[in-house]
Amino acid sequence: MGVHRAAIVGAGHTRFGVLEEGPRALLRAAVGAAFESVDRAPERSSVDEIFLATLGFGGWQIGNSASVLAEESGCVGVPVTRVENACASGGFALRAAARAVSSGSAELVLVAGVEKMTDVSNARRRYWLGVSGDTEWERLAGLTFAGVYGLIASRYLSEHRLGREALAEVAVKNHEAGALNPNAHFRKAVRTDQVLGAPRVADPLGLYDCCPVSDGAAAILVARADVARRFTDTPVWVDGLGASSDYLAVQERPDLVRFAATRRAADAAFASAGFDRSKVSFALVHDCFTIAELLALEDLGFAAPGEAPRLTLAHETRRTGRLPVNPDGGLKAKGHPIGATGVSQAYEVFAQLRGQAGARQVPGASHALTHNVGGAGATAAVTVFSVG
Ligand code: COA
Repeated sequence: MGVHRAAIVGAGHTRFGVLEEGPRALLRAAVGAAFESVDRAPERSSVDEIFLATLGFGGWQIGNSASVLAEESGCVGVPVTRVENACASGGFALRAAARAVSSGSAELVLVAGVEKMTDVSNARRRYWLGVSGDTEWERLAGLTFAGVYGLIASRYLSEHRLGREALAEVAVKNHEAGALNPNAHFRKAVRTDQVLGAPRVADPLGLYDCCPVSDGAAAILVARADVARRFTDTPVWVDGLGASSDYLAVQERPDLVRFAATRRAADAAFASAGFDRSKVSFALVHDCFTIAELLALEDLGFAAPGEAPRLTLAHETRRTGRLPVNPDGGLKAKGHPIGATGVSQAYEVFAQLRGQAGARQVPGASHALTHNVGGAGATAAVTVFSVG
């Protein structure tokens, strides 16, 4: 990281799910909770810069929406920037904030992510999710995101001669974790037979292989390392930032079942952190569809190609396993309000590394990784953190 390290000193979260509140109220609630979570809370006037992560689903405030965040957080006057990389908006907004403080240009930065997805018709929802995929070929051919990930899953299962069991285990594991998370969209466990017997959405993916359509917001406060202890005795350090991109349309890529953007972002994150994968106590990976969690484990370097199903079926990625993955329920059960997701991952890291994650706490967690993907791998942000 640059001259200065960055630290998270506060984090707030709304519930994820089908909610009554609109984007302004969601942002106000998440930001309020982030300030309240700071041990020695700063004045709102001490925020130097603001980043808002949102796709602007449904056409909500398509232009200039970051100024709304300034209003709702009581920080009108500071520089504001909206970050939009589809589902990876939050991870890239965190990166922008960490770089702002590590460059020395800011001491305290507010990052929030929001999406309001459930107040539009199914047809408009398909349109708004579709705008983040390749519009010239994939969308014109009628592919949805479930369709793209369905193709990827088919290819993966046939390449490795596998059935759907490992996909189902990802769903069972993440629903079980979501049941322990008070902010999760789904707080119910599901059984393997339910998952395997559910209606197909895009073969081989069924209902429980998909993340839901959720409303929600999350916010974090990022401070420069030399001032972080002004706000808390337990800052969570942002040790390594990695980000990358890939061809937007999957047919342009040499390999359907490896996300090069994730690989490059992970290598960059660990190179800047100065520690390796073996240090990571838990990972929050972008499981928009169950196949995506398996790919992530391999692309992040936690499993060799084709090994993620074995790891998963051996329960090594459960909260009590060797490498807990998505102990917050992941996108699958916690929900996936597009722009909020990457910020929500940082919220979870903040809670877990400070030992404040309640029933879903990963025992002894000291290092963490977040992985946030835009669309079907066109953008990826990987961040690694530590405490102490
Ligand atoms: N996982 C588990 N249960 C789900 C679910 C999901 N992803 N989505 C909906 N349900 C449940 C609902 O809670 C509801 O249960 P109930 O009858 O007990 O109340 C039931 O299934 C029907 O819900 P409904 O909203 O009518 O489902 P739907 O058929 O309209 O939508 C999907 C289901 C999978 C198509 C939708 O969730 C979806 O499009 N997900 C993917 C979103 C996406 O692509 N995001 C971007 C990723 S890159």
